[in-house]
Amino acid sequence: MSNDGVNAGRRRFLVAATSVVGAAGAVGAAVPFVGSWFPSAKAKAAGAPVKFNISKVEPGQQVIAEWRGQPVFVVRRTDEILANLGKIEDRLSDPESKNSTQPAYVDPKLRSIKPQVLIVIGICTHLGCSPTFRPEVAPADLGKDWVGGYFCPCHGSHYDLAGRVYKSQPAPLNLAVPPHSYESDDVIVIGVDQEKA
Ligand code: FES
Repeated sequence: MSNDGVNAGRRRFLVAATSVVGAAGAVGAAVPFVGSWFPSAKAKAAGAPVKFNISKVEPGQQVIAEWRGQPVFVVRRTDEILANLGKIEDRLSDPESKNSTQPAYVDPKLRSIKPQVLIVIGICTHLGCSPTFRPEVAPADLGKDWVGGYFCPCHGSHYDLAGRVYKSQPAPLNLAVPPHSYESDDVIVIGVDQEKA
């Protein structure tokens, strides 16, 4: 894999693709307006927390925030997505995230504070590309057993919709969960731990 390929992957997150899952799978794509606000560039470079309003994130949809120069995937998970997470654990490398990076206050399997809201760093744990959001169930290119997740275009690593990597992938670990907390029902603070919120 050339460096060009890796760099191309890293740039993908700048194109904030979003998609919506309907009863029959992926039914379309739309880029929603999601209210968010950021500190100054200087503050961000220093690692300041970032507030992000999730009120406009529809069920089944992903939006991408930015924290410390990294993409942060924010997904509103549906009941169907949550149910599917429990069906594939035998296909995962680290289903309880014992070896992966996540705060102690997130659920070890769902990897979130609230089951419906996933927040993970959007950087593949192999060589740092940004995985593609693929929430569809059984798309032709990912196979009939695919229940939605992430596909890394650089070397083909697969993750589920909790950011947990499948077995026998180039990526060794689950996607990292950043420290985060809820300032209110709709406002998350990325970079501030829940206990200190
Ligand atoms: S960077 Fe290699 S599989 Fe993602």
